[in-house]
Amino acid sequence: MVLMNLKGLRAEIDSMMARDPAARTRLEFVLLYPGFHALMSHRLAHAAWRRRWRILGRFISQLSRWLTGIEIHPGAKIGRRFFIDHGMGVVIGETAEIGDDVTLYHGVTLGGIAPSVDSGSQVDQKRHPTLKDGVIIGSGAQVLGPITVGEGARVGANAVVVAEVPAGMTVVGIPARIITRDKSEEKKFVAYGTPSGDAPDPVARAIDGLRGQVAELMGRIEELEARLRDKSAGDDASATPPRDKARPTAASGGKG
Ligand SMILES: CC(C)(COP(=O)(O)OP(=O)(O)OC[C@H]1O[C@@H](n2cnc3c(N)ncnc32)[C@H](O)[C@@H]1OP(=O)(O)O)[C@@H](O)C(=O)NCCC(=O)NCCS
Repeated sequence: MVLMNLKGLRAEIDSMMARDPAARTRLEFVLLYPGFHALMSHRLAHAAWRRRWRILGRFISQLSRWLTGIEIHPGAKIGRRFFIDHGMGVVIGETAEIGDDVTLYHGVTLGGIAPSVDSGSQVDQKRHPTLKDGVIIGSGAQVLGPITVGEGARVGANAVVVAEVPAGMTVVGIPARIITRDKSEEKKFVAYGTPSGDAPDPVARAIDGLRGQVAELMGRIEELEARLRDKSAGDDASATPPRDKARPTAASGGKG
């Protein structure tokens, strides 16, 4: 049983190491990676929390926070092969749910929208995000509210996510918006969450489209103005009588 656990742990460490180009050996990983220490502590804290040893759970969680700079509430549910790289400043709330093979970088918050407002009514309510399998959250990103980030989705560094993110999508910015990505990259983990596929920004595409329409409209306006000029020149010509005919003659009763 212990051997099986050790084997499982080794596989977990290998999968985390595969997500960090800087990791060299398992020993280095076990000794020096705060994300690994925080995960191990969380497993203890969560076990205590589930047995309703709430203070013990909170105590282990706080101890881990002092040592690693990573704050994980003992009530948070975390799947297998969870990897927090660098870690400092990560906060994971009580009702957060995290699937398998999820990766977080430093400064990420999985938080509530307004925990301080009417907090009594929020007790025991789902108020933190759910991250499905394979999600990657870039450094400094804030994912807020009981929203779901779909399987394999990626959140850009420093994004603020307050709405659902569909599976396989990449979102960036404040508030986070979707940028498309090459679907063939979905199953492949790329360190730091940066796929190599082309990811044109939909806002930039919309602006390009609008610029095209404006250019077309300008062309139409110029064409209409030219027609108008031609028409008024023609009207002027027909309204002005020829010089000879206009000149009064004696026969026509003019002065003379
Ligand atoms: C979001 C991310 C995964 C996108 O990578 P990508 O698919 O290769 O996308 P690109 O670099 O081609 O960028 C696509 C567009 O999104 C913009 N963009 C990319 N990341 C962004 C971010 N975090 N915030 C705002 N805009 C971003 C780019 O400027 C580009 O805009 P453009 O089309 O107007 O030129 C990546 O940029 C990212 O933020 N990864 C997290 C990295 C991280 O946390 N590193 C910490 C390691 S210690």
